[in-house]
Amino acid sequence: MRVNLSETTLRVSKIKDGTVIDHITAGHALDVLKILGITGHVNGVVTVGINVPSKTLGFKDMVKIEGRELKSEEVDKIALLAPHASINIIRNYKVAEKQLVKLPNVIRETVKCANPSCVSNSKEPVKSKFYVDVDEPLRLRCHYCGHVLEKQDIPKQFRSS
Ligand code: CTP
Ligand code: ZN
Repeated sequence: MRVNLSETTLRVSKIKDGTVIDHITAGHALDVLKILGITGHVNGVVTVGINVPSKTLGFKDMVKIEGRELKSEEVDKIALLAPHASINIIRNYKVAEKQLVKLPNVIRETVKCANPSCVSNSKEPVKSKFYVDVDEPLRLRCHYCGHVLEKQDIPKQFRSS
């Protein structure tokens, strides 16, 4: 019996304009969406691939956002969860720019301090601020109280449960 390839091989198609976040650590695609504020009500097509086979990583996640080019601050935030992700800006079906994510030295307003008595958790309008002490495995230190967040503390901040 002949197998119709178009019925068996459909994966994610190429996009015309937008951003492809590739090589996301498997299991973190939904956290990446959350960090970008993509929670369901968005304009444009967003395609998510989870556990996509990859030659180099075994498995990877990927996110394709049509009609939106990520800003560099947004790219930097992704480094918190997916330090090996690559960001591809697509224009007219071609990869116009390819960048690796890079952790900034200071992370503002993205993660919360886990110390309940930290001033950044009080009613005062104090925005969170962390220093990157170690890149890999990630260690962040609160500017206000010195509390340390470890790599495994970060993704759960972006999950709904
Ligand atoms: N891509 C896409 N739409 C396009 C062009 C590329 O969705 N119009 C996606 C590809 O599927 C791939 C990513 O963007 O996941 C990067 O494209 P490309 O650089 O062509 O692929 P690779 O060479 O495999 O990338 P890398 O070297 O980063 O692994
Ligand atoms: Zn703190």
